[in-house]
Parts: sequence; structure tokens; C-alpha cells
Amino acid sequence: MVQVSRHDIVIVGGGGAGLRAAIAAAEANPDLSIALVSKVYPMRSHTVSAEGGAAAIARDDDNEELHGFDTVKGSDFLGDQDVIEYFVENAPRELALLENWGCPWSRNEDGSVSTRAFGGMSTKRTWYATDKVGFHMLHALFQHSLRFDNIVRYDEFFVTKLLVEDGRCQGVAALEIRTGEFHAILGRSVILATGGAGKIFPFTTNGTIKTGDGMALAYQAGVALKDMEFVQYHPTGLPGTGILITEAARGEGGYLRNNKDERFLVDYDYGVGDKAELGPRDMVSRAIIQEFEAGRGFEGRYGKYCVVDLRHLGEKHIDAKLPFVRELAKIYIGVDPVHEYIPIRPVVHYMMGGVDTDINAATELPGLFAAGEVACASLNGANRLGSNSLTECLVFGAVAGRNAIEFAQGAGEGNSSALVSQAEEEAARVEALRGNGRGNEKIAGLRHEMNSTMEAGCGVYRMQESMQIAATETRSIRKRAADLHLKDSSRVFNTEIVSALELQNMVELAEVLAVSAAHRKESRGAHTCRDYPTRDDQSFLYHTLAHRTDDGPRLGRKEVKLGHWEPQERKY
Ligand code: FUM
Repeated sequence: MVQVSRHDIVIVGGGGAGLRAAIAAAEANPDLSIALVSKVYPMRSHTVSAEGGAAAIARDDDNEELHGFDTVKGSDFLGDQDVIEYFVENAPRELALLENWGCPWSRNEDGSVSTRAFGGMSTKRTWYATDKVGFHMLHALFQHSLRFDNIVRYDEFFVTKLLVEDGRCQGVAALEIRTGEFHAILGRSVILATGGAGKIFPFTTNGTIKTGDGMALAYQAGVALKDMEFVQYHPTGLPGTGILITEAARGEGGYLRNNKDERFLVDYDYGVGDKAELGPRDMVSRAIIQEFEAGRGFEGRYGKYCVVDLRHLGEKHIDAKLPFVRELAKIYIGVDPVHEYIPIRPVVHYMMGGVDTDINAATELPGLFAAGEVACASLNGANRLGSNSLTECLVFGAVAGRNAIEFAQGAGEGNSSALVSQAEEEAARVEALRGNGRGNEKIAGLRHEMNSTMEAGCGVYRMQESMQIAATETRSIRKRAADLHLKDSSRVFNTEIVSALELQNMVELAEVLAVSAAHRKESRGAHTCRDYPTRDDQSFLYHTLAHRTDDGPRLGRKEVKLGHWEPQERKY
């Protein structure tokens, strides 16, 4: 028996993009009802763990041309320039709005907003609230959202299917984790804001919840995933846990050192003298791997690592600007950065790819919108600049909210009984998994295989052969994930069933990622092939699209929207 509820818009995901979309929709029409469905309580969404800051023009030496070009160049010319122009124009307004809602941006002595340097940017453009930016942003958004009576929350509901009828998306089927009951949450438009899929890799800054659910929902509903081969490694994660040591550590003047105690980044060819630590993430991550390969990494329990050196910044500065870095380093690795080095290695941080959307946050499926990391509006192209993504959640979350409202206002209610019977079928599929003792595959075993396959095949450096192997293996893992063995048949907080559903989502995406990567025979941004080491605009200046078939992804392509920034060699 499925519980049915009806709203005007259904938003899946309660983090930065989802909350911003909900607020924009609620403001646009207070008479419409907005469902906010999240598999965790909104304040536990992954936005909360963002640290270093959010990008927007704030200083006199900055302007839209500079922010735009930095982003286009950072993207290795795969960003869509109309999207980038819209983004840089709207970013400052969104961050100011957030302050009105309670986000305590750090200030200069004269009261102006204080900004810090981040990699690949021509000036200090990153707004911050010490180094707990995600925490403050999410609080401000969540508390502001509570003002709107027309936002109805479904906390700890796991969405397993998009309900599509008459060629448009009209709601979701969801498992209520607390009770085990199944729900059809109907709406005239749906927004996906579920974040990325870092957990398909073994070492990641991403929280356990980042299993790519929204990407998988769209893909299974026939919507294309775009540019999935582009995976961002953040240069500085803690070995073992992958916990983020924010780029602000380098922005505030920290150094990276190898096992010879050398500040090695000054020697890399993208380097810009004393700003070497402020290279873009793809280039800094490659430099660290090259140090490892040259025998200049430290050896540790979790493999090779380098170190971040903050000692010269002094305790006062560290406590004022990087208190969270100090706290994390002390708690999770037992070092105090005031006196000691912090061990780090590149770890998976962000998916540039995602659900294919346009500048309106609209997907190819009428009624379905997406924003934030789940989406690929092509703001970030082949490599995202640090701190553009929190702002992206706000700018395109708001766009999605407004456009989903407009769509809902012009759409009929649809055939409820057809939608409910789809949800009933879905409930039966999920129910068959609960405590299914007949399956042959263990969740943890398959997840481990998927993680190692992805690290070996689609890491910082890739080879045609490694990617082909990953494509073949992930295909087999995807098929095996249909035959899971589960032991827990209880209904209340059955986390085993949630893990099974998450794994089935991740294995789809792992395959798309590997197949898309193997197809791109060039090096661009974060996609670095040893056997195709240069960028090839002649053959590959396009977005990769992947549509689902039972035999694996069917690839296509989409034009890159160029503009007045002509592709050129990417040098810093
Ligand atoms: O390093 C960081 O604080 C991460 C920021 C980002 O990914 O934008």
C-alpha cells in the first residue's frame, strides 16, 4: 500500500541547491505547495562540510570579464560561455542575499567583505566565514526556508524512482526510511538537487551520502548524463579518511612539501612563482602524483602522501582564518598544524559531469529540472575552480526553483492513478530486496570492487587500457548488483536496504564514467590520459552525453557554447 501526497513542485535534496530552489519557488508563488524530500535531515546534507568559500566578485580589482575568463580557462574551454556569463553576473547578488538571511561572511577592518585567494583565480574572489563556510551557508538557507509555510519537508525519505507519465516528470516514488513505508509524492514539476557521486571512488572528501542518487534517477528515466568522465581530485585530502583540508590552507599562504622538504610546486611548468600553490586543482593534483612517481612522496599506511606546511603562518593567523583545519588535523590525524606538517594526498572531491541541463536548469525531460553538483549545466567544463560550486548551488538553485514554478503553473495535474500504480510497482521492486536471502552478491564486497576498479582505471592519470578495463569491469559489477544478498528484513531504519539501493545507483554511474572516459582520447582538464597527453579541440571540443540502455551507456555529443573567449593554451 503506497501513501499518496500531492504538491505543485517536488524537490529532491535538502542541501544548498535544494534549499535555495525551495526558497526561490516559495517566494515566486506562496500559494503553491513545495515538497522538499531528502534522504537525510537537511542540516546533514553534504553542503555542511564545505570549508573554504564561495566565489563572487567583491573587490575593485575584479570584474565579470575576469571571473568569466578564469572560469572558462579553468574549464579547459569546455564550459558553456552563456552559462558562465549568467553565473558571474548573478553570483554577488546571491552571496549578499545569503548574508541577509544570516550567513556571517568574514569582514575586513573597514567593514567590506573579506575575500581570499583560491587556485586558478586572478584575484582574491572567495568569500568565506572562517573555514566553516558550508556550515554557515546551510544554516542560513535552512533557517530562512523555515519561514515559508508552503515548503513541506519529507526528511529521511529515499527517492528510488522518478514518476514519468505523458512524457513529463510528475513526481517521485520514495521509501520512508523511518517506517519502511512507500510513498508516491506527486507534483507538476520535479527538481533534482541531490549532489554528486564521489563515493564511487575509495578516497574522497565526500560524505557517505554522496552516492549519485539523483544522477541515477535521471539516467534511469532516460535523461542524458553529460561529461561524466571529468572527475575532480582535490589535491589536499587526509590519507585514509579523505577528509578535506581546504584549499584555503594554500589560499592563506600554506605550502606543499615533498619528502625532501622541498616546496615542489614552484618547479612545475604551470607555476607562477610564489603563487605556485594556487594553481588549479587538476594541475596541482597531477604535480603531487608526479612527486610520488619520482620517489619524493612519503610512505604511509594508506599509500604515498605529501604534506601541507602552515607553520610559517603562525598560531594567530591559523586560529583566525583556518580554525577548522587545525581542529580536523588534530582530531583525525593527531597533528597540530601550528607546529607540524599535515599529510595529504589527492582525493576525489567533485563531479564536473551530471544530469544534462541548460541555462534554465531544465533537462530534456519536460518537468524535470536539476541544480548543484547533480547537474551539469556546463559551468565547470573539464575542471571546476575551487569555490565556484557553492555559488553555483545558489545561482542555479534559484533558477531551478523559479523555472520549476513556472512550469508547474502551466501544467495540468496529470493522471494520478497511473502515477500511483507506477509507485506501487516500484514499492514491490524495493520490497523484493528487503532481507532477500536468495541473492549471491554482498553489498560491501561489490562496493569495494567498484571503488578499486574506479581508482585503478579512472584516477588522476588514466590510460586507454585502464579505462577500457574499468568500463568492462563496471559493466559486470552493475549486472552483479542486481543479485544482492540482504539479511535485514526489518522495516524501521533498515539501512541495509538503503545501502543496496545506493550501490545500485553507484554502479550505473561508475559504468557511465568509465565508458565516457575511455571514449575521450585526449587530455583536457581533469581528464588526463597518458597515451593522449594533449588537448584536441579538432576532435573533442564537445560535451559527452550518455543515455541508458540495458547493454550500457549509449554515447552521444552536444555542442559546447563558445562565446568571446576563444580556446587557447591553458597556462598559469
Ligand atoms: O578546498 C575547499 O575549501 C573546497 C572548496 C570547493 O570545492 O569549492
